[in-house]
Amino acid sequence: MDIDVEKINGLRQGIIPFHEPGLQQLVHAHNGQTLTFTTSMFDAVEWSDTILICVDTPPNQDGSADLRAIETIVRDIATQASSYRLVVSKSTVPVQTGQRIADTLKRHGKPGIEFDVASVPEFLREGNAVEDTMRPHRIVLGAETNRAIEQLRTLFQPFSAPVIVTDVTTAEMIKHASNSFLATKISYINAIANICEAVGADVTVVATAMGLDPRIGEHFLDAGVGYGGSCFPKDVSAFIHVAQDVGYDFDLLRSVQNINARQKHGVAVKLEQAIGQLRGKSIALLGLAFKADTDDIRESPAIAIGEDLLNRGALVRAYDPASMENARRVFGDRVQFGRDVYEAIEGADAMVAVTPWPEFDDLDWPTVHRLLKGSVVLDGRNIWNPAVVRAAGLTYLGVGR
Ligand code: UGA
Repeated sequence: MDIDVEKINGLRQGIIPFHEPGLQQLVHAHNGQTLTFTTSMFDAVEWSDTILICVDTPPNQDGSADLRAIETIVRDIATQASSYRLVVSKSTVPVQTGQRIADTLKRHGKPGIEFDVASVPEFLREGNAVEDTMRPHRIVLGAETNRAIEQLRTLFQPFSAPVIVTDVTTAEMIKHASNSFLATKISYINAIANICEAVGADVTVVATAMGLDPRIGEHFLDAGVGYGGSCFPKDVSAFIHVAQDVGYDFDLLRSVQNINARQKHGVAVKLEQAIGQLRGKSIALLGLAFKADTDDIRESPAIAIGEDLLNRGALVRAYDPASMENARRVFGDRVQFGRDVYEAIEGADAMVAVTPWPEFDDLDWPTVHRLLKGSVVLDGRNIWNPAVVRAAGLTYLGVGR
């Protein structure tokens, strides 16, 4: 159920409103059968015994989470339910939102109608959503009654993954703790990368060696231009806020944020050091999405980097396999767009890779050398082999190597 009529009409015809590998096939396979779409809250509530709330919780000005969408939905569920319903929060919410949901249900529900509230945090990654949903690493079921727990166990029974059954508040904390830890790992390796650069070490080798220790683990140690997306930036601020509300200063996470901001904004500085003042220079920006396999540009480091370059008077020509339409809405005609990598780099003074799209992996470096006016290749995601780029007569600059 969604209030967006256009989105629901599209979904009924199998049109997915965003780029997500494998999702279209999955929707096609079940559309109109086990999967139906509606814009009617009444129908949705009437028809279901478990309701998953998946609305967004955008940040307020002060970094706390805006829960108005959740409040509205919960009130609607409360006023429309005619018998027991299990209301599950899947949206990323501040800890203790479950309690708020329970209070709202109690306040607005019809007399005699019971509700249970549960928290089943979502751990899928954009661009990998189908795979992560079908093969999760763990399933967290946070609920307060046996009835709710049994209903959830049945719902999640087809998935084979370790199941953690806990109370609602602990489930909510697991989500905060997981996302903030991943963001911390990224900022940690980015800090290491900056020191590597200063001392002449290679962060990619440092990360590989660190990752072989199972206590550290190999994932999320890719140094780059910083994390982005609709989750980490918002979730880290929301968690800092939650901590502050209970009197704990989460200064570690504030450092995680600062390192991430410096990492993004360091790109223009690095370019300036390499090619001098950017005013009037043309820079090719490869990648606009916050990560590969998505067209999502929310909080994308590429957008911040593009703005930094424009503010310094550079001419920017960008290319992204999936998100140029979204980026055009942000940049308008301040940025030119190329139809592919080669068109984007033609005549540019330098090129910068910001999103690690697989199609950037194997560039024809002699052609790049021929097309590029300058020689600087800034690899913001350490996707290229420095030796290969240098062999083509270009100047390679990575992150921490
Ligand atoms: C993240 C979490 O990984 C999911 O588990 C979680 O469910 C989701 O947020 C959410 O809360 O909804 P997502 O934002 O889709 O998923 O993407 P990630 O793959 O985590 O990447 C986030 C950012 O970190 C990207 O900008 C990526 O480029 C960056 N990153 C990731 C690095 O800079 N280095 C790394 O080693 C890994």
